[in-house]
Amino acid sequence: MKRIGVLTSGGDAPGMNAAIRAVVRYGIYAGMEVVGIERGYSGLLEGKFVPMTMRSVSDIIQRGGTILRTARCPEFKTAEGQALGIKKLREADINGLIVIGGDGSFMGAKALSEQGFPSIGIPGTIDNDLAYTDYTLGFDTACNTILDAINKIRDTMTSHERISIIEVMGRNCGDLALYSGLGGGAEVIIVPEKKLPLSVIVERITAAKERGKLSGIIVLAEGAGKADDLAAEILKRTQLSIRTSVLGHLQRGGSPSMQDRYLGTAWGAHAVKLLEQGIGNRICGIKHNKIYDMDIVKGCAMKKRFNNDLYKLAEIVAR
Ligand code: ADP
Ligand code: F6P
Repeated sequence: MKRIGVLTSGGDAPGMNAAIRAVVRYGIYAGMEVVGIERGYSGLLEGKFVPMTMRSVSDIIQRGGTILRTARCPEFKTAEGQALGIKKLREADINGLIVIGGDGSFMGAKALSEQGFPSIGIPGTIDNDLAYTDYTLGFDTACNTILDAINKIRDTMTSHERISIIEVMGRNCGDLALYSGLGGGAEVIIVPEKKLPLSVIVERITAAKERGKLSGIIVLAEGAGKADDLAAEILKRTQLSIRTSVLGHLQRGGSPSMQDRYLGTAWGAHAVKLLEQGIGNRICGIKHNKIYDMDIVKGCAMKKRFNNDLYKLAEIVAR
């Protein structure tokens, strides 16, 4: 394989730049030419190709977002869109593609591989919603950003003896809420995977007050409801002073953590090595601290299991 492409697709995530940098520099080290494709599959269909050099990726490992920018491209879900994508890649003499994105983006890489164009996926999403890998790129940084917010909100909640509901991202996955709630000592963690009746939420918060806690933090995953709705429900049953914060897109930006720089770098090089051998249709992951790859179809079909033990532990140690 002589010439490979790299693109970022779907929601951005801290660490994507570290992955782009590794693809470019490891690719050049392996004797390949590397082409950056701007704005995900949209840029692919428009032929937005940029030749990458060692210097194209200077000074980016520490930056959040993605220098290639990203987009959502409904047209690429169609057979016509995919055929046009392959035509554009072949015209540019590109023989393999690395897609950095979530499971939606992986479906695009799968379609390309099945049509004879070797493509490799790198899991880039803050949501940590992919079953085949212990972590996704950006998850660790987003957790640390949320922790910083919890710490600051805790300061003022304690001074005023208040309750705070902090709504975090994650789509249908509760991992961002679970891990940041554990690390931030949240009194209650609410995730889509575990139904928690309102009576239990109220009971836990009031019991914590009775045990002498000055403040209460409820971390609410967006997939489990809205902070303002929950606050209104709690206020109907208690006299507590409650405030809400929806952290929003600040969770998606920021300088990547060491873990995300490591994963981006290791997966970038790993993906190039697979293409070097002419292997496509694989996704990179990490299991038990080991970098590995697996079949796209199998990996995407796996159902993510919620970490019930960690959820229980978070509850026990927040008493
Ligand atoms: P993520 O990759 O973060 O899960 P999306 O689900 O929005 O984000 O998908 C990103 C892009 O991947 C879509 O806009 C589309 O271009 C492409 N894509 C998603 N699903 C498919 C599919 N079934 N077949 C081909 N391409 C897809
Ligand atoms: O998938 C990443 C994510 O940030 C989710 O956690 C969130 O639900 C969604 O993307 C937000 O998407 P948008 O950037 O379109 O607002």
